Amino acid sequence: MDIVKLDFEGRGQRVLRFEHPRSGASGYIVVDSNVLGPAMGGCRLWRYSSDDSALRDAQRLARGMSLKNALADLPLGGGKAVIRLPDGPFDRRSMFEAFGRAVSEFAGDYLTAEDVGTTEEDMRHVRDVSPFVFGLPAVGEKAGGNPSPWTALGVFRAMGALLARSGRDFSDVSVAVQGLGQVGMALCDLLHGAGAALIVADVSRTRLDLAASRGWKISSTNDIHQSPADIFSPCALGAALNEETISEMSASMVVGAANNQLATWSDAERLLDRGILYAPDYVVNAGGIINVAAEYFGHDHASVAARVDEIADRIIAIVERADAEAVSPAVVATRMAEARMAGLPLQGTDDLKRAS
Ligand code: NAI
Repeated sequence: MDIVKLDFEGRGQRVLRFEHPRSGASGYIVVDSNVLGPAMGGCRLWRYSSDDSALRDAQRLARGMSLKNALADLPLGGGKAVIRLPDGPFDRRSMFEAFGRAVSEFAGDYLTAEDVGTTEEDMRHVRDVSPFVFGLPAVGEKAGGNPSPWTALGVFRAMGALLARSGRDFSDVSVAVQGLGQVGMALCDLLHGAGAALIVADVSRTRLDLAASRGWKISSTNDIHQSPADIFSPCALGAALNEETISEMSASMVVGAANNQLATWSDAERLLDRGILYAPDYVVNAGGIINVAAEYFGHDHASVAARVDEIADRIIAIVERADAEAVSPAVVATRMAEARMAGLPLQGTDDLKRAS
């Protein structure tokens, strides 16, 4: 297997391309940064049209992980892996064992876990050949297991804090949720429990049937972003916020779990110009990685819950700073994460002021 160093927007990234013809596994591992510690970020199994598009996705996602881990105040760098989903049938166990051998090439500088398309069982196959994998079942009080409920909880906490800031609570708002996967469904359950009205969309009939059985309103996947809701919550794949969707959106806030929601950096400006408050994805969706990191460090569930709660204060600090400077919260969040990677502490508004 080859490790090459590529330049991504002026930042050196370590990239490993792996190929295992017997199982059909091929893909990339990208380590974006080890400045704060081992690079942690999940492994995505997805259909890509070309090697190049798989690589670009891994690079963007790895950069996002560096920013996310820094902003969550974790002693971790950022990395990500993508495996190209083969067209025909394939041997899943052997695919993830091959991937595990690729992970071990980094000798602990890259730590993997689940992401879109991969499961706890896949990670168990990785563990058969490599110690550098997390997101495995929890043992006793120790953190572990599926990170998605923690991701959903972090997004929910962020929404709650932003609503409280404008004098509202869940019982008088509606939320349009795009994607009812592991995170989206858990988020909807929390929102429903708190009294929010829900409009939801998914490409999966099974997920929609489940939503309908809970009494949630269903929208088409093409129109969910323009639903008459107070909050739009992208919880499917990236680039949900683009020139077209932003111009059609009626929500006044975007708070969701999907990674890389902004199609381009200009889309942060577009949201600002339309007066739509954008909660940066990697700030509010850090709950899952907080849980995976706690598993790696041997912390317990209670410490995960406390850290996930901190997402609420963090998003408020970022939004207030952004308001004061009349810039997008995405600008403030990136600046704050980069300051942390440059060695400045990160706690609350005071540190944010020092960093700016
Ligand atoms: P998932 O694969 O379980 O769910 C994604 C859902 O989106 C599926 O139900 C799928 O059918 C649906 N979907 C796909 N295309 C769609 C479309 N065009 N319109 C509406 N629905 C569509 O993935 P998961 O784990 O729930 O993650 C969701 C997003 O959150 C991803 O972007 C992921 O990277 C991000 N994320 C997930 C974390 C986690 O802990 N699982 C952590 C941080 C981010």
